[in-house]
Amino acid sequence: MTEKQEFVSRREILAQKMQPESICVVPAARLQTRSRDTEFPFRQDSDFQYLTGFPEPDALLVLSNSQKFKGVHTVLFCLDKDPTAEIWHGRRFGAECAKNTFGFLQAYPLEETESILLELIDGHQNLYVALDHCEQTDELIKHILKQLREAPKQSRMAPTALLDNRPLIHELRLRKSPAEIAIMKRVGDISAQAHKRAMLFCRPGVNEYQLEAELHHEFAMQGARYPAYGTIVGGGRNACILHYTENSDVLNDGDLVLIDAGGELDGYAADITRTFPVNGKFSSEQAQLYNLVLEAQLASLELLIPGNNLKQATDKSIEVITQGLLDLGILAGTLEDNLQEQTYRQFYMHGLSHWLGLDVHDVGDYKVKGQDRALEAGMVFTVEPGVYIADTADVDDRWKGIGIRIEDNVAITENGHDILTAQVPKTIADIEKLMSGEECVG
Ligand code: GLY
Ligand code: MN
Ligand code: MN
Repeated sequence: MTEKQEFVSRREILAQKMQPESICVVPAARLQTRSRDTEFPFRQDSDFQYLTGFPEPDALLVLSNSQKFKGVHTVLFCLDKDPTAEIWHGRRFGAECAKNTFGFLQAYPLEETESILLELIDGHQNLYVALDHCEQTDELIKHILKQLREAPKQSRMAPTALLDNRPLIHELRLRKSPAEIAIMKRVGDISAQAHKRAMLFCRPGVNEYQLEAELHHEFAMQGARYPAYGTIVGGGRNACILHYTENSDVLNDGDLVLIDAGGELDGYAADITRTFPVNGKFSSEQAQLYNLVLEAQLASLELLIPGNNLKQATDKSIEVITQGLLDLGILAGTLEDNLQEQTYRQFYMHGLSHWLGLDVHDVGDYKVKGQDRALEAGMVFTVEPGVYIADTADVDDRWKGIGIRIEDNVAITENGHDILTAQVPKTIADIEKLMSGEECVG
């Protein structure tokens, strides 16, 4: 768990980054209807989570750096204590307890938001808000600004600049603190255990969703109650559908199965892919393509040090995969011509990496002033090359219907990187050994 002081200091840093005389509003997530009067499990908004740690829906964070307050002023609006509502829907912190537990200077019941927020915004020059993110917040802000503008005789002053708070918050979220890295290491370990469990459970005749169930069971049993995103379990040609989440087919002898799954812990995602044989033994074609994807991943990983950028690693993966496909006769011609024509795109059609954190496709710009962003300690991302040969591809039949991705999570350190998901086997020898039952699951 992240300590209260870390949330307090994130809010202080954000307040410092804002222009002087600014106020910032960040809404919590709302419950989403699943059907009629039932809801999806609640998931906190990632920006709100990053700045508060407060786990309830409907709340609102307000943050000011105005001189009229001594120091950074933080206010939370939240659902207040209500014995009847709590009998039906569950416990609430309530304003007073939330204030003390999460370190806000003030907290008020949600019903008081409009009148108090109007007083808070009054007199600030700039208002930071993520418009088009939450309809209710947009309406509330519009309504308050209108009232402030229409009340000049009461010496009200509406902010004259509306600024997007996301670039500031997302720049902070891009660099993970030691506490965040520790959580991500833990959820990487948990997710690795889940992948091992699925490998051990797998055999011909098992359904894809049964492997999904094994993964989700392991996540939850180790404290990561929910998956971080829709789990992908694709046997055979289903592995060539990049976002396959139907997970409803039977796994066949002789096929590979691709699993892309990660748990979520304290809001942080793991994002692991492994591809392995349903029957525990790679065929010759499967092994050749697998080793090519692995070679591309290992070569990319070597470049992931502070000062380098993700584009360099991506280019490396493209070069290795293109050369490998030429060596296997899946592509023809020279390396140079193929790179020039980007022929790899028919078989490797997604990027190598994305930032990882509170969101699986985490926030943060990939370019700074038009240049690829240099990697820094604390940045966390995936490394996930793949090769997918569709049934319809113009290649020898023996390669068709094979889809392979290998995905790990990497944190940049002062001198290099840590692989947060290293606990799950990756070489053919290690996968076959685990699936043969020779290795104990640790
Ligand atoms: N699991 C989604 C991705 O790998 O990007
Ligand atoms: Mn990914
Ligand atoms: Mn993934």
